[in-house]
Amino acid sequence: MSVHLSPEQLALQAKAREVAEGTIRARAAEVDRTEEYPWDHVATMKDAGFLGMTIPQAYGGQSKSWLDAVLVIEEMAKCCSIAGRIAVETNMGAVSAIMAYGSEDQKKMAADMVLAGDKPAICITEPDAGSDASGMTTRADKRGNRYVVNGKKHWITGGGVSRLHLIFAKVFDEQGNFEGVGGFLAIRDETEGLEIVRREPTMGLRGIPEAEIAFNDMELPPSALVMPPRGLKKGFADLMTAYNSQRVGAGTVALGIMEGAFDLALAWSEEREQFGRPINEFQGVQWRLADMSIKIAAAQALIYKAAESGADGFPDKMMAAQAKIFTSENAIQVVNDALQMFGARGYSRNLPLERMARDVRMFTIGGGTAEVLRNVVASDLLKKKLPQTRDGYLKAGRTAAE
Ligand code: FAD
Ligand code: COA
Repeated sequence: MSVHLSPEQLALQAKAREVAEGTIRARAAEVDRTEEYPWDHVATMKDAGFLGMTIPQAYGGQSKSWLDAVLVIEEMAKCCSIAGRIAVETNMGAVSAIMAYGSEDQKKMAADMVLAGDKPAICITEPDAGSDASGMTTRADKRGNRYVVNGKKHWITGGGVSRLHLIFAKVFDEQGNFEGVGGFLAIRDETEGLEIVRREPTMGLRGIPEAEIAFNDMELPPSALVMPPRGLKKGFADLMTAYNSQRVGAGTVALGIMEGAFDLALAWSEEREQFGRPINEFQGVQWRLADMSIKIAAAQALIYKAAESGADGFPDKMMAAQAKIFTSENAIQVVNDALQMFGARGYSRNLPLERMARDVRMFTIGGGTAEVLRNVVASDLLKKKLPQTRDGYLKAGRTAAE
């Protein structure tokens, strides 16, 4: 491990492991089968102090670091991907943007809600603006002393169970001039015009709903706008800066899932005998285990370092992207290898491998696809803005003939 963990962090990790290996692991299969949000996991994690750990103490949290949160997420995800994702979204993403950029009232509200067990939803993706997130069409029009929000988001994690929503929207002044991108706070069942349209039937990660959400003339006071530190003009960049924490968190869930699958495969390789000896006496199996462990060690080092890069703010954009790409892609391979080592049993729903294989498949997609994150890394490496649109390349100084 390339990052030194303090005695307090080792103790936190041990506590998280103990909690995860109890009721969280015991209920993981049922959560997947019933597709019901695990409120009991939320209660367990709340009692253990794992929700809102990164919220400053002044607001009732523990002022924990991103790395502290990563240690907890990793342990949760080894046993239950959904618990891992709850740990991500109650410590990173929307809540972290609000705690960094919000007004006093916004911070108090978000802290109170998260510490009480709400997993905020972050609403960025739209049907016609996924990777091209800055092409969003959800708009907030200033009308007197309020904003009127219209638009549609989809694949919003927690849609229907989350109460607090942070909604990315383009802001227009009274005259219809574009001012930039802002994040608006709305509360399900309290804010009129926020409608949960439908739930997506997902391949894995079935214990948290992914929902389409519509905003129909949703009226919000100006106090609902989380003003980015550099103003609306740089609002998208500032909100994405906060989002880098969630990319590290998503990568950590993938890391935990692959570690969980590896632990099962390692134990099974000793237990399962064929041709009169444990299967781990075959070199093919030994080398597979060795390769799996290398991928895990490298992924963990990238995740921990990306988390540490945010010690004084948010994780570094490039390191978060590198960590998420590497971890999400290798996690798919490691879980697949683990499943393979169980033979037919790995394909059975009686064991967690098939669930892990479905769950882990998501992480090269959600939170920025592995392809788009490669663009982010390349842009940083080349120190160039790499616009993805045809217009953008033309603006970058080329002629149409090129
Ligand atoms: P598209 O953008 O349509 O991409 C299609 C394909 O084209 C991909 O392979 C992509 O990599 C590739 N591609 C696109 N542009 C480029 C390019 N410039 N260079 C190379 N390749 C490119 N969103 C939220 O806002 N909030 C959430 O809580 C949330 N949770 C999610 C949970 C799950 C389980 C999933 C699956 C998604 C979630 N998302 C969420 C949405 C997610 O962030 C988007 O799916 C993702 O950003 C990709 O957008 P898209 O699905 O529209 O794919
Ligand atoms: N961290 C910090 N800043 C970021 C950022 C990040 N992760 N991603 C983008 N930015 C900044 C850029 O530096 C740029 O800043 P500038 O205005 O000061 O130059 C600004 O945001 C716009 O980014 P740019 O790359 O020029 O935008 P684009 O229109 O080409 O769009 C993205 C590319 C950002 C939308 C794309 O890279 C992306 O991240 N798509 C995935 C969306 C996603 O993760 N959705 C998850 C939903 S849960």
